[in-house]
Parts: sequence; structure tokens; C-alpha cells
Amino acid sequence: MDTPIYDFVQNYIKSNTARLHMPGHKGVSFLGCEAFDITEIRGADELYAPTGIIRKSEENATHLFGTAKTVFSAGGSSQSINAMLFLAYQKADKTHRPFVLAGRNAHKSFIYALAKLDADVEWLYPEASDSICSCIVSAETLERKINELSYKPFAVYITSPDYLGGMSDIASLSDVCKNYDIPLLVDNAHGSYLKFCEKDMHPISLGADMCCDSAHKTLPVLTGGGYLHIAKNDKYRFSENAVNAMAIFGSTSPSYLILQSLDLCNRYIDEKIKEDLSFCSEKCNEVKEIINKVGIPNISYEPLKITADLRGTDLDFECILSANSIEYEYYDGGFAVFMLTPQNSDNDFVKLKKVFENIGKIKKSNFTDIQFPKAERVMTIRDAVFAESEEINVEKALNRICASPTVSCPPAIPIAVSGEKITEKHIKLFKKYKIKKIQVIK
Ligand SMILES: Cc1ncc(COP(=O)(O)O)c(C=O)c1O
Repeated sequence: MDTPIYDFVQNYIKSNTARLHMPGHKGVSFLGCEAFDITEIRGADELYAPTGIIRKSEENATHLFGTAKTVFSAGGSSQSINAMLFLAYQKADKTHRPFVLAGRNAHKSFIYALAKLDADVEWLYPEASDSICSCIVSAETLERKINELSYKPFAVYITSPDYLGGMSDIASLSDVCKNYDIPLLVDNAHGSYLKFCEKDMHPISLGADMCCDSAHKTLPVLTGGGYLHIAKNDKYRFSENAVNAMAIFGSTSPSYLILQSLDLCNRYIDEKIKEDLSFCSEKCNEVKEIINKVGIPNISYEPLKITADLRGTDLDFECILSANSIEYEYYDGGFAVFMLTPQNSDNDFVKLKKVFENIGKIKKSNFTDIQFPKAERVMTIRDAVFAESEEINVEKALNRICASPTVSCPPAIPIAVSGEKITEKHIKLFKKYKIKKIQVIK
């Protein structure tokens, strides 16, 4: 597969042209990557009006992901989430206040997008939940909830995979959405690679109308690189305005380092990824088996994510990992998440296996599950995010109104949502997730 963006920059570097244009480093090495860092000069195309090399590279990605249109993001999934919601909102029935029906474990960028659009949310809660990261919603629950509503939402919004590797049944949820003629949007930030696994588990392949992928989370792409995908049948004709939607929420100076990285990733996907993923999944399965054997369940359904359920143990797990020179993706004292890709070395797998082999057989004591607090909404999300606010200690937050969504990062899932009145249950959860200060309306 060709790599037009990368090739253009290589030729530009070789041409020794005087760089009398932005950026200010002029290709001189400070960090080391400056020579590759260009801007929208002649021939380099424009991310938000692509007709040349960027268009060609996006067409390559469109072909690889089997979509109607795949657009590059230099602002991660956050930018694509804004654009997805914007595109669906444009088509909303505006005779009442538009709202989206969303899984409660949405990332904070979802809340910011609703604030910008001045749209509301109705939450879908999980049937059972042991973490704020997970919200597996069944097709039955979705259908029941749709039938309870007075108006149709302008979209259903599901986060899958979730931070712990939980995966919703997108195919069944998509059937429900199709029956009720509601677009299904999926936050697939963690799952770009799912398209290329032995069994294709990408949300677009399973019936989502649009999804965002953080390419940088699971593919060999620089931080910030992502995609907005629109399904092949494009029932709602989202692709017509997709580039404009991305432009509304992105910088006019997108990073060409990221664009080259996405461009090169096309070739990697085309030539090598399937074989690499199959091998890497096997190695992850070996680690999962070891974890299960010592009595610590792996609860991730994702092939390349390992989530050790350490609740009810008194291990000083952070200390154990540091002593073994391992950095985790996420650890909240209960769940430890490790993200692996084919770019991890064999030694990385050996180290992780050793940690669990050396722990020995574990016996767990009782622990309590965590539930999302259901809260009273007293202001719209937009009014709360845009209002004057102040930071206070969580102990003093009872009955105050949440301003900006208060999150621990990762997983950046709001415990209290902007505009909600804060309850004792919220405060307990803030403390559990070590959040000490929160932003409330003045
Ligand atoms: C579930 C989920 N959605 C969206 C995002 C935002 O993605 P990005 O950092 O690529 O903007 C994240 C980031 O961690 C995430 O975990």
C-alpha cells in the first residue's frame, strides 16, 4: 500500500528547500523529529479540505476499515467524539430539546461535546456493575428504555470496549437501533485493532453507524492519531459533512507527524497486522491463563487487554509492578489493566508473567461492588459547564451542583456529571477514586 504523506515529507526533506514557512523550528533538531514536522505547504494537502496526499491516505484507510468514509483525527478520539455527536445532532428533531441515550461510562469528552452542542443526555445504566469503567447494556434494556422515553433520542451512544476490556453486544444493540431508526454511535477509542483480529470485532463491522478509534491507543501510531469511521451503508448520510464536522473541533494546524504516522500505519495494517495480532493474542492468552491459575480472574474480553481483578486482596500491587519495572495502563486498587500490542517485546510478556507466577496462589476476602450514583439534574450540561465555578474539597460538596465533570484520569469517566446535584454516594465514590477537589457552580 502506498504512503503518500510520508513520501511527500521524505522528498521535502531531501529537496533541501528553504523553509520560509511555519513552524518556527525550520526543521532544525531540538527534540529530534523537527525535520518531519511540516505544515500545510504546497503539495502537502489540507486535512479539512483534502484533495491530494491526505485524501489518498484517507482513502487507503477507508478501504482497510471497510467503511463509507474514514477521516483522520490529529486530536484523538476526543475530536471524533465531538464530530460524531455534531453530525447526529444536525439531523435531530429540534421540535423538543435534543438528547442522546448513552451508556453511563462515557468519557468526559462526551460531556464536553454535549455542552458545546447544548444537547441533553438520558443515561443507560448497566444491569450489574462493579466499576465506574463498565456499563454493559443489553439489547433488552436498550429497547425497554427507548420505549419509556417520550421522544426519540438523536443517537444511542455506547462505549465499547470499556476501560476494563468489557465489550457490549454491538450487533444486538444495532438491531434495536435499526428497528427504531436511531443512529448507533460507538466510542471505540480502545478498539481500532479489533477490525484486524481473527474474528472481526470492530463496531462498524457489527452494525454501528459511526465510531471513533484512538489509533494511538492500540496501533503503532503517535499519540493524538485517530479515526472517525462512517459505516458503509451510510444510512444517515453522515459522510457528506464528516470533514467539516472534524474541522469545527480541530486545530487549523494539524500535526503532520501524526498524519505521517497514520499514513505509515495503513501500510502496516495492509501488510502485517493480522499475523502480528494473532501471535500477540496467543501471548496475551498465556498471561491470562497464568493470572487465572493463581486465583486472580482476568475479566477482559478484549484480546490484547489484560485486566486482573485484585479486589479482596491486600497485595501492594503498585510496589510489585515497580519492583519488576512494569508500568500499568490503569490501577484503581481493585482492577489492574495492562494493554499489550505486537510492538511489546517478548521480554515484556516474560516480566508480566513473572509478576503473577511469583505472587503465588491468592485467596480473596469479601469486597463491595461499585454502582453509578443516580443523581438529580438541576441544570443543563451546557449551563453547568459554562457557568462560573469554584474548586472545593469533596467533603464540602454535598448538595452543590457539579460544574466541569469531575474525573480521575484515567479513566476520565465522570462520577458526577455537570449539572447534577452531588450526593453522599458521589462523595463516597470521589474518595474511592482518590479525587480530593471538585469544581462546583459558584
Ligand atoms: C473510552 C475513551 N473514550 C475516549 C477517549 C479519548 O481519546 P483520546 O485520548 O484519543 O482523545 C479515551 C481516552 O482515554 C477513552 O478511554
